[in-house]
Amino acid sequence: MTTQPGAQMRSDIAAQPAVLDAALRRRSEIAEVAAAIERRGPRFALLAARGTSDHAALYAKYLIEVLLALPAGLASPSTTTLYGAEPDLADVLFVTVSQSGGSPDLVEATQAARRRGALTVAVTNTPDSPLGAAAELSIDIGAGPELAVAATKTYTASLIALYLLVDAVRGGAGEPVAGIGELAERTLSDAAGPVRDAVDRYRFADRLVFTGRGYSSATAAEAALKLAETSYLAARAYSGADLLHGPVAAIDAETGVVAVTSAGRGGEAMREVVSTVRSRGADVVAVGSASADMDAGLRIDVPRTAEEVAPILEILPLQLLALDLALARGGDPDRPRGLTKVTRTR
Ligand code: F6R
Repeated sequence: MTTQPGAQMRSDIAAQPAVLDAALRRRSEIAEVAAAIERRGPRFALLAARGTSDHAALYAKYLIEVLLALPAGLASPSTTTLYGAEPDLADVLFVTVSQSGGSPDLVEATQAARRRGALTVAVTNTPDSPLGAAAELSIDIGAGPELAVAATKTYTASLIALYLLVDAVRGGAGEPVAGIGELAERTLSDAAGPVRDAVDRYRFADRLVFTGRGYSSATAAEAALKLAETSYLAARAYSGADLLHGPVAAIDAETGVVAVTSAGRGGEAMREVVSTVRSRGADVVAVGSASADMDAGLRIDVPRTAEEVAPILEILPLQLLALDLALARGGDPDRPRGLTKVTRTR
């Protein structure tokens, strides 16, 4: 059966409001995992993941550090898989995020973490997977089968599962994400016009820089991956702070900059970044609930939420951009060249 180019990715993107609502209905299952974490009282959190899931892990790092005041870091699976190191992980919470639960390095790193005393939690769309078996506890993100190679609904499903987990550990009942499905629906329908304008801007672009601060740095990283994967652009992501520490020198009038700017402290800190890249002549597209306040050539507004929830919505217009730009450039975002759905790294 042949399908229209991009039809699968479009259908995965459109499924997100329902996927997010379904996640809210699984809050009590997630709260059981949170209770087990509280009982163990970890002193540190490590997160292991690849690709899109790694950006969900980056989001979780900010949640854990800011909302739980627990130090958190991104693990390097190669420490174990290539170098054979097995550090002592007593009192560590080790969270592995993987849609497929199948990449051997993530499975091996999780097994090693469990052996070395960590409390291991898998956050996956495939609980019946080698990763699900390796981890002591598991959270099913419940996104359903994702047919397009480019991950979209599994990303936002991972974000909301991680949010609900951290929120439950701090004793919350998910209030900041109440109504998130409807907000996602609104974000997607409001984005249609501005995304068309962004596609016209970038149809012949070679390189784009994505930037955001705090929670939104995960959005910048994920958007850059999506654009590189579907539209074959040289897309790079930097935190707004890191951008000013050097790479800004490469920004000129030929550079498209996408600045993720949501209401809150991260968005506020982006003001300086946006004005710096503007002063270098960059063409800026601002995406997020604070975009109206930014000095940008195009603004893609997103409904306002608590800052820590904003990444769940901010990415939606950028997924649409990846899809529509790939189509406008003659590609098929459902089948990016040389990629398959599950990538196995060691
Ligand atoms: C990007 C994409 C990949 C996967 C990555 C991780 O759109 O789909 O980056 O996210 O291969 O795979 P999992 O999460 O299955 O370990």
